[in-house]
Amino acid sequence: MASVTSGRVGSGAGYGGAAIPGGDRLAWYFLRVSGVLLVVLAGGHLFITHYLNVPADTTFDFVANRWANPLWRTFDWLLLITALWHGILGLRYSVTDYVRPAFWRVIGHSTIYVVGLIFTAMGTITIFTFDEEVARRNEGPLAGAFWIADVLGWSLFAFAIVTYLAVPALMLWVMRSLRAGGPPIYAGDPGQYAWVLHRATGIGVLFFLLVHIIDIMLIGLGRDVYDESVEFYGNLFLIPMEIALVGAVVYHTLNGLRIILIDFWEMGTRRERQLFWGALVGSVLLTIPSAIIIFAAEL
Ligand code: HEM
Repeated sequence: MASVTSGRVGSGAGYGGAAIPGGDRLAWYFLRVSGVLLVVLAGGHLFITHYLNVPADTTFDFVANRWANPLWRTFDWLLLITALWHGILGLRYSVTDYVRPAFWRVIGHSTIYVVGLIFTAMGTITIFTFDEEVARRNEGPLAGAFWIADVLGWSLFAFAIVTYLAVPALMLWVMRSLRAGGPPIYAGDPGQYAWVLHRATGIGVLFFLLVHIIDIMLIGLGRDVYDESVEFYGNLFLIPMEIALVGAVVYHTLNGLRIILIDFWEMGTRRERQLFWGALVGSVLLTIPSAIIIFAAEL
């Protein structure tokens, strides 16, 4: 496991990442500093779009009103850069863990950095070149390209179908394993379940973020194309995915703060189990209000 936290507990690597060599230490610190920044940036964004409003409300007018204020454009750009590069550097752990041959590992790392640069450019151009008047008149070259919005919408449907099949399959597997007297998934302790959930939610949120950057890019093409893509968010079939997204961001955030407490606070290591249960219960309690608001708005 290239992820330092799970490897550190019991390895005696000391607090605050001091024992991590070179570039890895820089990535280690970046993940923690950007994580704390994302509590405000991503937490604030999620609160506005999944508590104060619902995703189907984030229409052309909603975004245009927001981006009329340069402070919101700056906020959204900081969110873009911080979440994207936090996720890309986080994904690097998985490439290091699962891609063994050195040649392919270099290819894997280079590919995710190139993807990061491309999406940085796409998001930055979208945020800083958005011209409300031109987009509202639907006169841009791709203003009639509704197929782009449909491809995005149906890819979310496809992702939802896979998820809706995978979750009951996983639960069946857990029940069978428990009935056979075995561990739920593998003989890990709560700390390792916390790590698996952290990785799964981090990568899941990163995937959603990439689709979201493409989706927001449509606003530059024209009001009608963009609003066509937003309409998918109001579809009842996708509502559980929107709630799962809230749950994933909230769990990853609370467990991310747990990891930082373990890394920099002596008591954190001693309390890591309680902190994990706290993160789990906190995720459920913080997700329920958003679920109620979204269902109430869409039903
Ligand atoms: C909202 C956008 C976010 C995305 C897309 C994201 C994505 C990721 C990914 C993919 C990883 C790597 C997981 C692994 O393989 O071990 C990661 C790690 C991490 N994340 Fe996030 N994250 C986000 C927000 C946050 C927030 C709000 C925090 C709060 C503190 C946070 C704290 C952390 C920490 C501390 C790690 C390092 C874990 C380790 O070294 O084992 N993340 N993140």
